[in-house]
Amino acid sequence: MKVLVVFYSTYGHIYKMAEAVAEGVKQVGGAQVELRRVPETLPDEVLANMGALDAQKAFAHVPVCTVDELATADAIIFGTPTRFGNMCGQMRQFLDATGQLWANGSLIGKVGSVFASSATQHGGQESTILSFHITLLHQGFVVVGLPYAFQGQMRIDEISGGSPYGASTIAGGDGSRMPSENELAAASFQGQHVANIAAKLAG
Ligand SMILES: Cc1cc2nc3c(=O)[nH]c(=O)nc-3n(C[C@H](O)[C@H](O)[C@H](O)COP(=O)(O)O)c2cc1C
Repeated sequence: MKVLVVFYSTYGHIYKMAEAVAEGVKQVGGAQVELRRVPETLPDEVLANMGALDAQKAFAHVPVCTVDELATADAIIFGTPTRFGNMCGQMRQFLDATGQLWANGSLIGKVGSVFASSATQHGGQESTILSFHITLLHQGFVVVGLPYAFQGQMRIDEISGGSPYGASTIAGGDGSRMPSENELAAASFQGQHVANIAAKLAG
């Protein structure tokens, strides 16, 4: 049973979350997990202006995902930073290249799930995940979120991402806040949860 974690990250917050998701998947016997990033679409000059070039070196070793690879997975967990309350353009462009998979029904019945990151606490994590789900539904995915069995999303003693729609992290206005323990635990729980469901569907 193969699970792909497909992400885009500019400054590394989603990458950290992706690693935690992958750790969660590994808890499930028989689950094989692969990390993939979607292609960068911004020119180096723009990335340099965004102060992203150094940060991106930390995950440059992660193989770039191909569209065809998606069809080989039993479950795909997507990670995206929020862009104006939606998924980032890099992820959108990647998904817009999956028309052939849609035409062939290649993704129908696979488990799909989403995690996100935003700068501000109410800056659109939930809208990013929920609007992402629309694409997954068009492709025929069985959409899975983060159930309240992950009790960490009940916490109000500290600022934390995470909702029934999926794990998320708050990067802060200047990006200086890295995912908290609770947010990473949510990501890991989501990975495990998705893998458990994919195993049941595969069996
Ligand atoms: C063009 C652009 C639009 C953004 N839009 C939002 C937004 O709507 N809400 C928000 O809270 N953060 C927004 N952000 C901040 C990013 O979501 C934040 O940098 C990201 O979650 C950090 O994750 P990463 O390090 O994995 O890229 C935006 C950033 C950029 C560059």
